[in-house]
Amino acid sequence: MSRIHNFSAGPAALPLSVLEQARDELVDFKEAGASLMELSHRGPEYTEVDAQARERLNRLLGLGDDFEVLFLQGGASGQFVQVPQNYLDPATTADYLCTGTWSKKAIAEARLFGNINVAYSSEASHFDRVPEDDEIGLSEQPRYVHFTSNNTIFGTQYRREPISNGFPLVCDASSDFLSRPIDIKRYGLLYAGAQKNAGPSGVTIVIIHKDFLALAKDSGIPAYHQYKNHAGTLYNTPPVFPVYLLNLVLGWLEDQGGVAAIEKINEAKAGRLYAEIDADEYYRCPAQVASRSRMNVVFRLPDETLEKKFIKEAEAAGLSGLKGHRSAGGCRASIYNACPEASVDALIAFMREFRGKNG
Ligand SMILES: Cc1ncc(COP(=O)(O)O)c(C=O)c1O
Repeated sequence: MSRIHNFSAGPAALPLSVLEQARDELVDFKEAGASLMELSHRGPEYTEVDAQARERLNRLLGLGDDFEVLFLQGGASGQFVQVPQNYLDPATTADYLCTGTWSKKAIAEARLFGNINVAYSSEASHFDRVPEDDEIGLSEQPRYVHFTSNNTIFGTQYRREPISNGFPLVCDASSDFLSRPIDIKRYGLLYAGAQKNAGPSGVTIVIIHKDFLALAKDSGIPAYHQYKNHAGTLYNTPPVFPVYLLNLVLGWLEDQGGVAAIEKINEAKAGRLYAEIDADEYYRCPAQVASRSRMNVVFRLPDETLEKKFIKEAEAAGLSGLKGHRSAGGCRASIYNACPEASVDALIAFMREFRGKNG
């Protein structure tokens, strides 16, 4: 069997060892005589998997006793709704930093529930950057300050958390979750669909500070949408198999040395790729240098005909998923945690060869 070099933006590459373990355990989970998918989510098998995933997340992010971890469904798009639904009403305001398509979607949903102050936007320059702290205009009393830590489509990423004047940060971390250490104590809430860095699609990880959870609504919104109903208990049937795979990916990440170790690898992978892009004028990165993402490396070729040829020939050479998002065009290499260094090196070799032939 030959596996592709997978640069898909999501769902994305998973560690091979995780897939192999899942394959081996698929039909008969730990001698239970059944697959985990066929067993009660309240039984001992799933209970252990669920607990282990929480413990691993706790260790990887240093959550201590201050945070609740929820395994929900509905993706990050569901959180665009659930966050403001739990925290806003027409008399309150939240601040949102607008750095791409996903931020815009989050803002549009939040406007259904409360007042939204767009404290920064890079839309005028086609989302080519994230803000410096002194460019952010926070309101007086925001319930929270929302940001998108990594902008999957435009290939930009915050180097560290933005200012929030002491108000809780709420983060859509879908595309750089667990790719580096974060300053967790500054967060009220962080959410991420698993399907880029943490597992398959189907589970959305929500991490909430207990103080922030205490401020969430417990009436006036549907019971399923109340964060409080999900904390410390399984409110309804969780996505059993995605959580199982998430747990395996978390174990793999611990084996790599955790988020600090993976950050170094991610920096090295992205560094080599950007160096190739910057080598001359042939390839060009639309994101400003200080804002460049280590997860989604977006680049252009001299014209669109060459871009189409590049993507087609790359695919034929086993380098898959390099087409840019349909709204942005160009090329994009998504190099999340599980994308091997060898895949990045194969892409660099292909870029050199392509430039040599088509330059
Ligand atoms: C940063 C970011 N936020 C939100 C989403 C939407 O996620 P979902 O499909 O899980 O709703 C994506 C998907 O690519 C994303 O990259």
